[in-house]
Amino acid sequence: MNTRTLWRNARLATLDPAVDADGWGLIEHGALLTDGPHIVWVGREDERPAGEPPARTVDLGGALVTPGLVDCHTHLVYGGHRAAEFEQRLNGVSYEAIARAGGGIRSTVAATRAASEEALWDSAAQRAAALMAEGVTTLEIKSGYGLSLDAEARCLRVARRLGQTLPVDVRTTFLGAHALPPEFEGRPDDYIDAVCDWMAELHRQGLIDAVDAFCENIGFSPAQTQRVFEAARRWQLPVKLHAEQLSDQGGAALAASFNALSCDHLEHLSADGIAAMRAAGSVAVLLPGAYYFLRETRLPPIEALRQAGVPMAVSTDHNPGTSPGLSLLLMASMACTLFRLTPLEAVQGITVHAAQALGLRDRGQLIAGQRADFVAWDLQHPNELAYWFGRNPCRHVIHHGVQRS
Ligand code: NIG
Ligand code: FE
Repeated sequence: MNTRTLWRNARLATLDPAVDADGWGLIEHGALLTDGPHIVWVGREDERPAGEPPARTVDLGGALVTPGLVDCHTHLVYGGHRAAEFEQRLNGVSYEAIARAGGGIRSTVAATRAASEEALWDSAAQRAAALMAEGVTTLEIKSGYGLSLDAEARCLRVARRLGQTLPVDVRTTFLGAHALPPEFEGRPDDYIDAVCDWMAELHRQGLIDAVDAFCENIGFSPAQTQRVFEAARRWQLPVKLHAEQLSDQGGAALAASFNALSCDHLEHLSADGIAAMRAAGSVAVLLPGAYYFLRETRLPPIEALRQAGVPMAVSTDHNPGTSPGLSLLLMASMACTLFRLTPLEAVQGITVHAAQALGLRDRGQLIAGQRADFVAWDLQHPNELAYWFGRNPCRHVIHHGVQRS
């Protein structure tokens, strides 16, 4: 059966360096041929190879087309919110002080434990829909607000179900080592033992694609993080790390020694950390939403990462405490204004490099063989993705070769 679709009359931003040296990989009067969930040909419409005509042709009306967006770092599944804590912070109490006093992550843990699986599903599905409306076709979701075997499983099941139910790919990350739950007060090493045991069980249930930890003064030490990573290695699960967000713990170098897919946040990253990440091929995931919302002043070492050739991704870090935003495009804009990324770096950061941060090489560019995940925008040039904010220029989303909207 002929299952091929020709998507014609488009200006393609392929992000394929083979197309042009400037990085955007623009093709005017372009077209894409898809077969089921894959792209089978990309090029100028008048250069389409002869052969059997496609079963279906879709006219994209001259729209700009980019790869589907990838949000590679979110904490999408949780109960409640933390608007009151935001108010406290504006009255001068620091994020760390709130966390040390038992608020912060722990208050979301209490709200998440109290929520039913259906309630968690409803709120997370609404958030996913907001991200998807802006062209997100792949989404990472971390656990880390349950902090018990049951509650972590519940959150990961909701994340899995989102990917099975909605037209979006979901990658799940087990973040049991996010904060110390109250029942383990004063016993962080016992808690790490428990996290390693739960990992085995949750992995057995097929709920984990990667493992993350929060290596920080108010999180877990490098030695404790290392134990989590050793357990992940036992199950051949890739790792990532919340590293160097509030202080330099040497977390990035530790993660790199486990071939981490990514190190995320990185405001306090050292030169040694950068060298280790480069050697390991770890992606630097930049989270300008958290930087903005915590009113941080210390920038991640962007120029040094750029000079070292470490790929940079950009993500929402959506969570109720430090980044309650649900616009990946706004993050691309803030990556430019706050972190001084170029628009090209920002767009690569929400596509090809974000996919790489999830260990996915089959998406993020418009190249034959890749997933047929792409977005048609009401824009002329892809640099506008990092330019407009507070506006959604998304016209159509195609996921696995199927037009979603
Ligand atoms: O990515 N840094 C740790 N985790 C989250 C924040 C969690 C929270 O405050 O609820 C982050 O910023
Ligand atoms: Fe995070």
